[in-house]
Amino acid sequence: MVDRSDWESRMGDKWAREWRQTDLSFSQLTPYLLTRITEHSFTSALDIGCGAGELALAVAETNPQAGVTGLDISASLIEVARERAHLQHSQPTFIKGDAAHWQPEDSFAPDLLFSRHGVMFFDDPPAAFAHLSEIAAPDARLVFSCFRALEANPFFTEIAALLPPADGAAAAPNAPGPFAFADKDYVRSILEAGDWSDIQFEAFDYPAIAGRGENAVDDAVAYFTSIGPAARALSQMEQSEREQICEEIRRIAAANLTGGKVSLQAAVWIVTARNGR
Ligand SMILES: C[S@@+](CC[C@H](N)C(=O)[O-])C[C@H]1O[C@@H](n2cnc3c(N)ncnc32)[C@H](O)[C@@H]1O
Repeated sequence: MVDRSDWESRMGDKWAREWRQTDLSFSQLTPYLLTRITEHSFTSALDIGCGAGELALAVAETNPQAGVTGLDISASLIEVARERAHLQHSQPTFIKGDAAHWQPEDSFAPDLLFSRHGVMFFDDPPAAFAHLSEIAAPDARLVFSCFRALEANPFFTEIAALLPPADGAAAAPNAPGPFAFADKDYVRSILEAGDWSDIQFEAFDYPAIAGRGENAVDDAVAYFTSIGPAARALSQMEQSEREQICEEIRRIAAANLTGGKVSLQAAVWIVTARNGR
C-alpha cells in the first residue's frame, strides 16, 4: 500500500530527486495521453497529483490562453514543478494541497481535470472524486491514466519476482497504491459515486523506459533499486542478499536493452469521464 502520507514524505522526496527518471519511464505514454487530454477545447485545467509538473507544463504549452493549475500533496515535488515552470517561462501555477479536500481560491472551476497516475492514492476514492466533481465546472472533462493489473505489467513483475514474499497480511484489494485502479468495474463504481458520467476505458500498452544512453543498464539498476518495486524491500535486506538481488536486476536490465534503452512493457487504462453534476 502507498498512500498520501508516503507521498508527503519519503516517496515524494524520492520522486522529487529522481524526476528525470520518472518522466523518462512515462515517456512513451505521455504524448498519447496529452493528445487525449487536449482533444477538446478548455479554458482552465487542473492536474491532479501533478508531481514534478511535466504534464501540466505540456498541457499549458498546447493552450497558452488557458489557466493551468498543478496540485500535489508533496512539498518537494511542488518545489521542483515551480522551478521547472520558472526555467521554461511557463504559466502553470503549482500548489501544494490534498486533491481530496482542496478548495480553489477565487472562481477557479476547471473545465478539464487530468492526471498521469496521480489519482490512485486517495483514502476514500468516492469522496475524493465527488469533491473533484463539486469544484469542477458543470460538464467538465476528466482524463487520467492508471496501471492495469500487475500481471499485465512486466515492468513491475520481472523485478518483483526476484524478491522474497512480503511479510504480514496482504494488502486489501484496491488499497491505495499504483495498482488500486486496475479493476475497471471498481473504478467505474467510484466515478459514478462521485457524480461522473460517460465513463470510458481505453487500454494502452507502452515500453516503460528505466535507463537510456551510454549507461542505460546502470541507470536502470539505479531506477529499479531506488524507485521501482524493489526499493523498499532492498532497503530492509542484509548487504549480501541485497547485492545478489542487484546482480539479478542487472541481468534483467541487460536482457531488456535494445537501441540504447532498457525498457519493459507497461499496461495502463486511459479513463475519460464527464462531470455529471
Ligand atoms: C505516481 S506519482 C505521479 C506524479 C505525476 N503525475 C507524474 O506523472 O509524474 C503520484 C502523485 O500523486 C500525488 N498524490 C498522491 N495523493 C495525493 C493527494 N491526495 N492529493 C494530491 N496529490 C496526491 C503524489 O504526491 C505524486 O506526486
